[in-house]
Amino acid sequence: MKVDEKMEQEALYRLSRSLQKWILEAAAYTRTQIKQPLTVSTKSGPNDLVTNVDCANQAFLAEKIKTAYPNAQLVGEEGAGEVPDDWQQGLTFFIDPIDGTMNFVKQRANFAIMIGVYEDGQPLFGIIYDVMADQLFWGGPQLGIFENEAALKNAVDEPLQEGLICVNTRMLVTNEAHLQEVLYQCSGVRIYGSAGITFAHLLKGQVQAYISKLAPWDIAAGRVLAETLGFQVLQFDGQPISMMRKEGMIIAPKQATQEIVTIMNGSND
Ligand code: IPD
Ligand code: CA
Ligand code: CA
Repeated sequence: MKVDEKMEQEALYRLSRSLQKWILEAAAYTRTQIKQPLTVSTKSGPNDLVTNVDCANQAFLAEKIKTAYPNAQLVGEEGAGEVPDDWQQGLTFFIDPIDGTMNFVKQRANFAIMIGVYEDGQPLFGIIYDVMADQLFWGGPQLGIFENEAALKNAVDEPLQEGLICVNTRMLVTNEAHLQEVLYQCSGVRIYGSAGITFAHLLKGQVQAYISKLAPWDIAAGRVLAETLGFQVLQFDGQPISMMRKEGMIIAPKQATQEIVTIMNGSND
């Protein structure tokens, strides 16, 4: 797609309105299922779950997007799952139909529906909906970032010592990449069990950083929202993420990112 063919503002507003509507529809369906028995299966291991609601939301959102954007590429956690090599050409939608499926199954709360949209590989639009709290985080570099209708402020760029950090449990208990040393240097640790819910806390300024291993559909929406507010999204060695596979990443403002990268790449391996 050439520069002059890039999405115009009116088309971007339309995309934003459509995705908000479809996510709210998927969420309304999800809430109807909250008290029903779920069909739960495991994927890569006993703690990697998928339910009938994940699959129904995936099918619903994919159908809406394919109908409205027939030339777009679609990557969905419960769909084909592979990121095509040419995902950086044209429009690509990354869908996570329920993020935090373990929370959905065990808590019936603290899960999100997420869609990230990229145009020629560049962040265009992100949307994360905390279904049970009814909090919608949405926007992009050309629109600004909002929680429901309220504009969100840029990330506060403070030293590591000043902020709370969210992490992946397995990385913490195994002290992968010196994670425990990072955590000794910060104000405290929080673990929410859903990338989407963690991004909600980051975007609201309630936590400073997030360190985890995330798949493309886990990061796609949050990356658009967080980068627009001044967070960096980098691999543990400080390099850009690929969006092609599950990989370790740090999401934090500049100062904290620099400190975390330095500690994670320390020489006492
Ligand atoms: C998972 C959650 C979890 C994160 C995992 C993800 P899912 O997503 O976001 O917090 O640590 O890496 O896979 O499988 O519930 O959509
Ligand atoms: Ca999921
Ligand atoms: Ca996920």
